[in-house]
Amino acid sequence: MASSLSKNPPPSNLPLRPIPGDYGLPFFGAISDRLDYFYKQGIEKFFQSRIDKHKSTIFKTNMPPGPFIAPNPKVIAILDAISFPILFDTSRVEKYNVFVATYFPSVSFTGGHRVCAYLDPSEPKHTTLKSFLLSLLAKKHDQFIPLFRTCLSELFIDLEDEMDKKKEAYFNTISDNMSFNYVFRLICDQNPVDTEIGTKGSSYLDKWMVLQLVPLATLGLPKFLNFFEDILLHTFPMPYFLVKSDYKKVYDAFYKFSGPILDQAEGFGVKREEACHNLVFFFGFNAYGGMKTTFPSLIKWVGLAGEKLHRELADEIRTVVHAEGGVTFKALDRMTLTKSVVYEALRIEPPVPAQYGKAKEDIVVQSHEASFLIKKGEMICGYQPFATKDPRVFENPQEFVGHRFVGEEGEKLLKYVYWSNGRETDNPTAENKQCPGKDLVVLLCRVMLVEFFLRYDTFTVEAGTLLLGSTATFKSLTKATSI
Ligand code: HEM
Repeated sequence: MASSLSKNPPPSNLPLRPIPGDYGLPFFGAISDRLDYFYKQGIEKFFQSRIDKHKSTIFKTNMPPGPFIAPNPKVIAILDAISFPILFDTSRVEKYNVFVATYFPSVSFTGGHRVCAYLDPSEPKHTTLKSFLLSLLAKKHDQFIPLFRTCLSELFIDLEDEMDKKKEAYFNTISDNMSFNYVFRLICDQNPVDTEIGTKGSSYLDKWMVLQLVPLATLGLPKFLNFFEDILLHTFPMPYFLVKSDYKKVYDAFYKFSGPILDQAEGFGVKREEACHNLVFFFGFNAYGGMKTTFPSLIKWVGLAGEKLHRELADEIRTVVHAEGGVTFKALDRMTLTKSVVYEALRIEPPVPAQYGKAKEDIVVQSHEASFLIKKGEMICGYQPFATKDPRVFENPQEFVGHRFVGEEGEKLLKYVYWSNGRETDNPTAENKQCPGKDLVVLLCRVMLVEFFLRYDTFTVEAGTLLLGSTATFKSLTKATSI
């Protein structure tokens, strides 16, 4: 599928326009935008109505949570595929204490340390910690596929058990347990069930993450409770003590079983204790937290796409696995449709929807229609689902098109897939802020589809939403008739 942008590139000398929009009165403007975002409009309408009003994909707005959690809620929103990548240029945008929101949760959640995700690449500690993680991932490379296949075979047992018992299966919980199991076994070489953590790992991490992220979420309660929810979730930071003992259990288990990795961290000049808090954040927040939204969303979109796509995927997967003699890196690389389906799921529903960065200098950014001057010190917010569903780049952007990235023309579109806080065609380095798990995540999504369609012919799902992401509930599951 050709990009309409490749046929109609934007002119390079677009007129400079003042950035439209305003922040309203101090305090009240931020509260009003917050109420629109969570309750009166909802997220999609919040952005779309402002695009329509300002006739621009770049405008000023407040982003939640605002007072009293975020000191400054004012942002320049960028919502098209052309302007979005300014957020990846860390020579021009600062990521100091900036991760997925305008606020910085207390360092109590991370043992008193500012962990890698909150460091700007200009801080030497960022380079050190990210180099340590990249080298760790490189060392674990050979375990990625076999360990994931083991964990998936347990997942499919749970899935089938649940289908047998209840005639439906809520995928998120099954997937979360598998994901925790995977990250823990990858790093600690132990099944968590055989440690003090037992079967509670995912719930310990969920609570710890929720307290840090809840200012960005709504519970979807009846209208008359909105006011109370807003005060409770969005006004004051959640205290760490509520999850202190849960976090400590996970930290202690990582500390006990990741000895050789902590030795390596010391080789990078990082003390064991700080390295271990970073390990918990890398694998407990970044990796497990990412998988928590990524896998259910993948299953949801593939499920909703229907039987024809399932048949095509099953054909491709079974043919290639048979020809290559197993599920290998090489085999996975030959599965062009499977690869495309994974990219399409990451495009249509980027698992981490918002990215932020503060302008390090005056920056001129371009949308499709105009140029805008963002001043030094202003916070830029990219809401990714708009950028990766930009109709000037993707045809039928709201539609899940499994074949979208197949072939030469399809592959040209990969540079507009931004889920990893970078282009899909770029690579994470110790000097940038792109997700170091990028290749691993894409690999695991592929393996999940491969293992699924080696076992099953087709399935149906019911989709829903959760605090920060999607849910998928299996309604039917048809075992493979030919392998
Ligand atoms: C599973 C799905 C995953 C998703 C959706 C995801 C997404 C992201 C995104 C969007 C960012 C940039 C956030 C920002 O600064 O705006 C990020 C950063 C990061 N991710 Fe991932 N990630 C995933 C998995 C992983 C895995 C498996 C790891 C490795 C253990 C990982 C480690 C990190 C780290 C350390 C950072 C901070 C990078 C830096 O400071 O330079 N992530 N991730």
